[in-house]
Amino acid sequence: MLQSDFVGLTGHVKFNPDKSLIGPAYDIINIIGTGVRQTVSKPRGWVFPNNGKQLRIGVPIRVSYREFVSQVPGTNTSKGFCIDVFTAAVSLLPYAVPYQFIPYGNGHENPSYTELVNLITTGYFDAVVGDIAIVTNRTKVLDFTLPYAASGLVVVVPFKKLSTGAWAFLRPFSAPLWGWFGFWEHRTNDEFRGPPKKQLITILWFSLSTLFFAHKETTVSTLGRLVLILWLFVVLIINSSYTASLTSILTVQKLYSPINGIESLKKGDEPIGYQVGSFAEHYLTEEIGISKSRLRALGSPEEYAMALQRDPEKGGVVAVVDELPYIELFLSSQCKFRIAGQPFTKSGWGFAFPRDSPLAVDLSTAILSLSENGDLQRIHDKWLTKSACSSDNTEIESDRLELKSFWGLYLLFAIACFAALLIYFVQIVRKYRKTVSGESISDVQGSSHSRRLRTLLSLMDEKHDQSRGDSKRRKLDRSLSAYDEENDLRRDSNRRQSHISLERGTNVSN
Ligand code: SER
Repeated sequence: MLQSDFVGLTGHVKFNPDKSLIGPAYDIINIIGTGVRQTVSKPRGWVFPNNGKQLRIGVPIRVSYREFVSQVPGTNTSKGFCIDVFTAAVSLLPYAVPYQFIPYGNGHENPSYTELVNLITTGYFDAVVGDIAIVTNRTKVLDFTLPYAASGLVVVVPFKKLSTGAWAFLRPFSAPLWGWFGFWEHRTNDEFRGPPKKQLITILWFSLSTLFFAHKETTVSTLGRLVLILWLFVVLIINSSYTASLTSILTVQKLYSPINGIESLKKGDEPIGYQVGSFAEHYLTEEIGISKSRLRALGSPEEYAMALQRDPEKGGVVAVVDELPYIELFLSSQCKFRIAGQPFTKSGWGFAFPRDSPLAVDLSTAILSLSENGDLQRIHDKWLTKSACSSDNTEIESDRLELKSFWGLYLLFAIACFAALLIYFVQIVRKYRKTVSGESISDVQGSSHSRRLRTLLSLMDEKHDQSRGDSKRRKLDRSLSAYDEENDLRRDSNRRQSHISLERGTNVSN
């Protein structure tokens, strides 16, 4: 064999002394125009064997979130983030892969991704490229490359701004706490005397007035003071907490939604939106156990926004469940919605191949290289750079306090004033009637208007209850002092008498 020297089908066959073929095994030439140019770059090796045919790669025809995959109009080619990742990965393979993209979908709504990938198992497609979530059901029958994008299901809800309404001043404390303030028992006060009704009023008055450090009652006993000082410290803390929460309610934009994750969504019975064609529908019904009747298919980010804002009774939804990459895009343009809670599944997007496909393994290595050399990030930034949600200026608005923030408080005050005034006038009129009817008819008849007015004014001027109370107290004081004086006198006379008897005794003894 070493003596062979002939030209055959593969070229010149002749061996040199080290038993290698003379001349290269192959020679690649480019024919550009009329000239011949020898290629200098190293060939990539064998072509991926597919019986000489191109790989049929299925690509979804997306109608929403077309940044990920979309068809170039009028052609069979596709573009988008997923397509760029695929072509970049394929270019890193040590062999050529001839392929053609075959669009799948009706162009009116996103196709069912599960149906799409199932076409690999039937042999219709050799692979599927796109935003395909790697989920258990699919991995049972297919092989996926390593994920080239992180994903996971999230709950999106409309957030309402907690308005700094008229009753905002009540909000820092919960209703039961307000109730407690009313009944906080106090033993501190030395001035708690009198009938039970009065005691109760004083207790309430004292408890509440200490909240504002406005109490005027004095404590005399050491124990009383000890309790009071501790109570005042508690009051200080309550006061600071109240101020802090009221400040944050009035000045910081508070976003509120009753749904805080998949768990609270599961408990309710309101409708939930999901993306047409996504695995989310199957996941929500089969894995989470949400009834199918609660699910509404939504086709586009615009439909998401409309459904989330509409009343659930009138075709709206309380939340949308979809994968994070779509929701990130959605939220970059929609500012009225937020993700509630954390992603409740962790998954990724990969390219789907038939079971045991060597291409899936080699493309995984290529995807790793893309990720490590930063190309994956560059492709991501090229297609999916999100502008921060900026159309929302409610935060700036909420910094300003308005009259309406407090009208509830003003209203309460006005009602209290009015009621007090009304009661006062009713009392005065009653007293006036009593005074007038007490006088003789002839007196009344003869009395002039000015006299009546004077009576009324004198009634109004009189510090009736107070003076009566005062006089009572004075009387009590007087009787008490009289009692004391009497006691003193008695004590004095006793002392004097005993002194006298003592003196007498001494005299007698003397
Ligand atoms: N990424 C989804 C899926 O694979 C489609 O929205 O089902």
